[in-house]
Amino acid sequence: MRSSKWPLSLVMLLTCQVLLLLLIRQVRGEESHCTSVAGMVKLLDLEAQLIDNLEDYAVELEKKLETVRRSITSLRLENDKARSSTEEYLSNPLNSFSLIRRMNRDWMIWQLYMEDPIGLPQVEKIQELREHMPTNTDVEEAVTALDRIQNTYGLKVSHIAHGLLNGKQYNVSFTALDTYAMGQILFDQENYLAAASWLYQSIVLMEVYKLPAPLELSKNEVQMVYAETLLKLNQNADALKVVNIALTDRPHDIKLLMKKSEIETLIRTGTKSAPLLKKTLQVQGTEAPTAYQMGCRGQFPASTDGRLHCRYNSTTSPFLILAPLKMELVGLDPYMVLYHDVLSSKEIEELQGMATPGLKRATVFQASSGRNEVVKTRTSKVAWFPDSFSPLTLRLNARITDMTGFNLHGSEMLQLMNYGLGGHYDKHYDFFNQTNSNMTAMSGDRIATVLFYLTDVEQGGATVFPNIQKAIFPQRGSVIMWYNLKDDGVPNTQTLHAACPVIVGSKWVCNKWIREREQLFRRPCLKKRL
Ligand SMILES: *[C@@H]1O[C@H](CO)[C@@H](O)[C@H](O)[C@H]1NC(C)=O
Ligand SMILES: *[C@@H]1O[C@H](CO)[C@@H](O)[C@H](O)[C@H]1NC(C)=O
Ligand SMILES: *[C@@H]1O[C@H](CO)[C@@H](O)[C@H](O)[C@H]1NC(C)=O
Ligand SMILES: *[C@@H]1O[C@H](CO)[C@@H](O)[C@H](O)[C@H]1NC(C)=O
Repeated sequence: MRSSKWPLSLVMLLTCQVLLLLLIRQVRGEESHCTSVAGMVKLLDLEAQLIDNLEDYAVELEKKLETVRRSITSLRLENDKARSSTEEYLSNPLNSFSLIRRMNRDWMIWQLYMEDPIGLPQVEKIQELREHMPTNTDVEEAVTALDRIQNTYGLKVSHIAHGLLNGKQYNVSFTALDTYAMGQILFDQENYLAAASWLYQSIVLMEVYKLPAPLELSKNEVQMVYAETLLKLNQNADALKVVNIALTDRPHDIKLLMKKSEIETLIRTGTKSAPLLKKTLQVQGTEAPTAYQMGCRGQFPASTDGRLHCRYNSTTSPFLILAPLKMELVGLDPYMVLYHDVLSSKEIEELQGMATPGLKRATVFQASSGRNEVVKTRTSKVAWFPDSFSPLTLRLNARITDMTGFNLHGSEMLQLMNYGLGGHYDKHYDFFNQTNSNMTAMSGDRIATVLFYLTDVEQGGATVFPNIQKAIFPQRGSVIMWYNLKDDGVPNTQTLHAACPVIVGSKWVCNKWIREREQLFRRPCLKKRL
């Protein structure tokens, strides 16, 4: 029998390459610059280094410039003197010798001096630092995040560009470079409607502010991309207008002239250049908001259920009799309560401090692969801490037991999370609903979720339950707790929830997923299932 095996070395080489690729993906996933505010702090330090480096470069340039200018002065002095009385000057052998020598040698040295590149170490330094700088993928993620904020909250692009966020004016604004990057990348993502708004803003901003020379945008280029976007949206007449405006600046530009005739043909023949997509037909901001969007925007009606009210809860444990917690019943299906002032400032700072160095891009369990994976629907960074990590984690767990009455044995580790630019977590359930999976075999499903808010979030970042029309806005030190499973252990689909995109703020949360197995004697009805 003939075996047709590949040479072992080749197989090993390929395996190594695959592993390396996986490793690179992993590292990049963790790096993922925009997904946590805490993680972006190091970019500012990096930028400070880059500015210092550019300043070093300027010093080098100045040194050379100084040398050149000083020499010009003395050279000109000698030359002027000679030319005012040429014959007398040249008849002196010292002068004529010196002239010949200068012309033969010095000017060649000047040429070499001029050719000598300046600031090579500084150029190399940038190259070195580039390894730690955001990649194209980071920029694409940032674009997606900003587009998500715009969509979820129904904001106008012109408002965002001028720092008017959800009705509040901030003293920041975009340059044409920012808006153009938004436009270009949204165009590449075939989100033409949003791209058009950003490109239009770029043209407006280019009229207003002057960009520094090496970064300067070509107005022509922006106009071309804008016209192209309008064509994708079947706004052919508008595209023609844009090209005509561009032609007033550059009447002989061959690309513009060709584009003009192409659009004129389209208009004459009534050709649609793109199929009319449903998405492109919607006018931005006019479509009715979904339940999720309404929740994020704080537009759910206030609860009128008389059974829901605030009280001090001192029944679950002896500790609470001494130190009752301010409890607010939020809903009964699922059972959901909010506790106020559970964490002190000191505790919050300690939690943030221990999490910051280890923050990694958050993952989501994928039933299809049976593994946790990085996904676009969850953008934040997390760090996990075992119960016994520190006196604080032990105290926190004791407090969770006080609040919920649950035994935390076999529950998941504390998860600390920080959201970044437009950070969110799409609608999801916390339960696994998988009877025989590795995720639930040991300790059962996630019977309850306890979510601590470590920070206020200036704008956005609510926890929204679209099915039951509840939205919880983060308040520093408060905790929301709800049951994911019904009394008989069956998953409760009313618990569908999402973390709305953060508009402004650094949202920190800490959560604990409590598993059902240990609660056998605490919620006896679960016996049926286990
Ligand atoms: C806005 O920011 C600019 C520069 O960043 C500053 O000069 C100006 O004083 C600020 N205006 C207000 C109202 O804070
Ligand atoms: C206190 O909280 C526990 C757990 O959430 C709950 O079972 C209990 O009914 C609450 N007590 C009162 C008086 O609301
Ligand atoms: C849970 O799993 C069962 C069996 O696979 C399925 O019938 C049910 O729809 C699932 N429930 C939810 C809420 O996903
Ligand atoms: C559980 O884990 C084992 C070993 O890690 C794996 O072989 C098995 O496929 C997993 N089962 C499920 C349901 O994911």
